[in-house]
Amino acid sequence: MTTVEFRTPGALADAERWTAHNYHPLPVVVAEAEGAWVTDVDGRRYLDFLAGYSALNFGHRHPGLIAAAHAQLDRVTLTSRAFVHDQFAAFCRGLAELCGKDLVLPMNTGAEAVETAIKVARKWGYRVKGVADERAEIIVAANNFHGRTTTIVSFSTDPEARADFGPYTPGFVVVPYGDLDAVRAAITPNTVAVLMEPIQGEAGVLVPPAGFLAGVRELCDTNNVLMIADEIQSGLGRTGKTFAIEHEGVVPDMYVLGKALGGGIVPVSAVAANQDVLGVLRPGEHGSTFGGNPLACAVGAEVVRLLATGEFQERSARLGARLHAGLEALIGRGVVAVRGRGLWAGVDIDPVLMTGRQACERLAERGVLAKDTHGSTIRLAPPLVVTEEDLDHALAQLAAVLEG
Ligand SMILES: Cc1ncc(COP(=O)(O)O)c(C=O)c1O
Repeated sequence: MTTVEFRTPGALADAERWTAHNYHPLPVVVAEAEGAWVTDVDGRRYLDFLAGYSALNFGHRHPGLIAAAHAQLDRVTLTSRAFVHDQFAAFCRGLAELCGKDLVLPMNTGAEAVETAIKVARKWGYRVKGVADERAEIIVAANNFHGRTTTIVSFSTDPEARADFGPYTPGFVVVPYGDLDAVRAAITPNTVAVLMEPIQGEAGVLVPPAGFLAGVRELCDTNNVLMIADEIQSGLGRTGKTFAIEHEGVVPDMYVLGKALGGGIVPVSAVAANQDVLGVLRPGEHGSTFGGNPLACAVGAEVVRLLATGEFQERSARLGARLHAGLEALIGRGVVAVRGRGLWAGVDIDPVLMTGRQACERLAERGVLAKDTHGSTIRLAPPLVVTEEDLDHALAQLAAVLEG
């Protein structure tokens, strides 16, 4: 008799042994992936219903994106911004046009793009709005998630993200998410920006009340304040539109983008805004060695081309309706509430039954990967290339998990 040796336990132990414990991953060791599916080191297949927190909107190894990356790998991959390369303008122009903005500033990670937006808003405040030096204020929402830098965690309301990392960067005012009166009351002559996620992802896929984002837009217009939309997780097709803020017919002054912009291949982030805003930066004031590198631009330009077809947004809206109908049907059968738009859902599991973590562990045992957040919530965000059969399969697995 032959004994089968599983590679997963050893790989998990090695990862645990050699890394800082800043994550608590599910016990799955991925070796390969394609489309909406991943395969682990022991050959087990899983449907990926997290999609790299929306970094894999186009699925794993989308052929067009892989081809763009391969072609660029054979030409030039890095120049730094000390020189211009031949992929730079095409990517920046494509992204600016997708956003309907004059200019783009490419960076790498989401947190860097958020930092960029904060710096630009502050400089705009001093040089354009006329705020006194060092007095700029930015209004943000409670339960926000914008990244992990020291400045960004300074205005987090999540003790886990923030505690022990002070002293904190001043200049931020926190208001309850979705509370327009609170935003109005927080605005002072020193307010330079309102920075918010159009749908709060990490908080549990929280959709603000109808009219909130339009109301913020109006307040920003009346008070000469920039509206900054962090669409890093909500944007680029995830909710059934290119940007989640479009659902309210709102155009922000600055888009902050990341995750899916890199096609699941390279980290690519950016801010997009008009000349009167992004034009405040001068050489030497901001930058990044890898920001806007040739490989990133080649992949990013292909991402923009995919989005320009509208195909992924349409899929997300159509399949999202199916996902949400399936999830609504589970309310009262182990699910307490469902939120979200398009192929993006926050699902509150009845805490009497199990925690979100336990639900995700049991889903993984049944071949579906998802991630919990805040106790009893799980997030579902499959790649936008997921099929109807895959969706139905994942919903059936969730139902089975809840039935115990
Ligand atoms: C809305 C939002 N902003 C910013 C970030 C930070 O992006 P990154 O992890 O690439 O720094 C995230 C990541 O989850 C996010 O969801």
